[in-house]
Amino acid sequence: MCGIVGYIGHRQAADVILDGLKRLEYRGYDSAGMVVSPQGANLNLVKRAGKLGVLAEAVKTTPLKGTLGLGHTRWATHGKPTDINAHPHLSEDGRLAVIHNGIIENYLPLKKQLLAKGHVFASDTDTEVLVHLIEEHYGGDLVAAVRAALVEVSGAYALVVFHADYELIVAARATSPMVIGIGKNENFVASDVPALLPYTRKVVFLHDGDMALISRDEITVTDFVGQVLEREVSNIDWDAEAAEKSGYPHYMLKEIYEQASVLQQTFGGRFAANGSDVALDLTLNPALIDRVVITAAGTASYAGMVGEYLIEKLARLPVEVEVASEFRYREPVLNERTLCVVVSQSGETIDTLEALREAKRQGAKTLAILNVKGSSISREVDDVLYIHAGPEIGVASTKAYMAMLAAFELLAIWLGRHRGTLSDERAAEIIRALRHTPVLIEQALESREQIAQIAEAFKGYNDYLFLGRGINFPTALEGALKLKEISYIHAEAYATGEMKHGPIALIDDDMPVVTIATKSSLYEKTVSNIQEVKARDGIVIALINEADEEIKNHIDYAISVPETDELVSPLVNVVALQLLAYETAERLGLDVDQPRNLAKSVTVE
Ligand code: M6R
Repeated sequence: MCGIVGYIGHRQAADVILDGLKRLEYRGYDSAGMVVSPQGANLNLVKRAGKLGVLAEAVKTTPLKGTLGLGHTRWATHGKPTDINAHPHLSEDGRLAVIHNGIIENYLPLKKQLLAKGHVFASDTDTEVLVHLIEEHYGGDLVAAVRAALVEVSGAYALVVFHADYELIVAARATSPMVIGIGKNENFVASDVPALLPYTRKVVFLHDGDMALISRDEITVTDFVGQVLEREVSNIDWDAEAAEKSGYPHYMLKEIYEQASVLQQTFGGRFAANGSDVALDLTLNPALIDRVVITAAGTASYAGMVGEYLIEKLARLPVEVEVASEFRYREPVLNERTLCVVVSQSGETIDTLEALREAKRQGAKTLAILNVKGSSISREVDDVLYIHAGPEIGVASTKAYMAMLAAFELLAIWLGRHRGTLSDERAAEIIRALRHTPVLIEQALESREQIAQIAEAFKGYNDYLFLGRGINFPTALEGALKLKEISYIHAEAYATGEMKHGPIALIDDDMPVVTIATKSSLYEKTVSNIQEVKARDGIVIALINEADEEIKNHIDYAISVPETDELVSPLVNVVALQLLAYETAERLGLDVDQPRNLAKSVTVE
């Protein structure tokens, strides 16, 4: 939530910050701002409501000179997205600057105290409390003032501060992510790795309760009371190109097209040479668990639902899936024989992180399916299965979902083989299908033109119904979520067999029904359900297998995807639904990569 970039070095800070903010705009895009310190003089500040482009224009007419600065792209929590509420926030004397991600939970009582002491507030944000609090404690020692202020603050935050009197950035972290980039005679700080990629691959991930003092040639990490801490320097293997659009009009489209190669990375080296097993680097002993609980948010939770089908089928373990925001508050019953699997692209989603903590409190074994290395979840979980999807910039998740599905395929096979519930032959069959999936995804992408025509025909409709059964019920949920997120069209998803228990009342010629009707063990039943829709003048857009000519007699529009093993089909089928959402949003002239009200990773409750 919200992007932070800070720079201290030999380059013009404004250039580095603007470039970094562009790479982080997916974290928030309702306002942006930047402050630069021209040595010795008062700080120069520019901030604007609106997307980053508005700030970039403003900076052209008010160039900011200096080699130390901070920038922010905001996703509003407290206070509307206005110029005044945009970060950075300055002290009344204009010499202290603060940027903050997260929420200061006790900002109201603090504000009351500060107002009583004569502080004058300019904005409606919780962040401004921090500025006044640090100012209140400032007696010439910036670091001491920040420490004293933080003692009084509660909440989740990532904070960066500097003062015109110092050549230093002070950063602090409590829950919200923050990473330091190490350069030569220059250093960086950011809320997320992509901002750093063009400049350095050497990074230090701050932990909760860490404070960092960042100067041009030195970085010191301490706790909040000043005790120096050792923190590992990690090397990031993402290439900068992976965070560029590379000729595509949108990151989302690029990421949809990257999915075949992402799969190769997720599978990379994990299939055993005998062709009927997988090798996963996990400490987990499958003999010691008798139940699996999967928890995640949004798209990651739908990947978890596919995981539920896979693990139950192949490893014969009982599995439950629940969204993390519910799981953590309902006192789930877990024990040391439960495996809790958390799934997250960012590794920072607060609901998922807290669900993991709840599982650990109850003694469950924990495993994370994650994309971002060094993320908060990666540091707290027992085992990690990285999906290796590379940086995902589009707010609507696509390639990370694909890689999560692939990771669940691997996990289910691994568990099934260890538990003796999956035969050599069946394992080899699924692995063959998985190996072939990148080719099938390329073929599924060839339906784009067909999908574009459907999007054109239905872009003016207000409601969609998505139906899918079995392992493709989550695919229907994901298809509906993608459409909602980027085209703002109301879309609901149901298990196809549930339709006649209620949603069928909605069917008329005003609501397209997207039905997943690819070959499966429930194919005939799906065809019957399609006929029920047609009998009520519904419009059926069906996802079908290329060779299925017969079904065309029962549907209005077909989207063809290649056939594969039923247990692997969610990986192929979802591609068509991602494209349907993309093509629809494109035709409605909407901002595909930065849909309204959303942010890429949700680090506040
Ligand atoms: O980073 P995470 O995978 O934990 O994020 C979870 C959800 O917030 C995320 O999948 C969200 O639903 C996406 N916008 C979906 O496109």
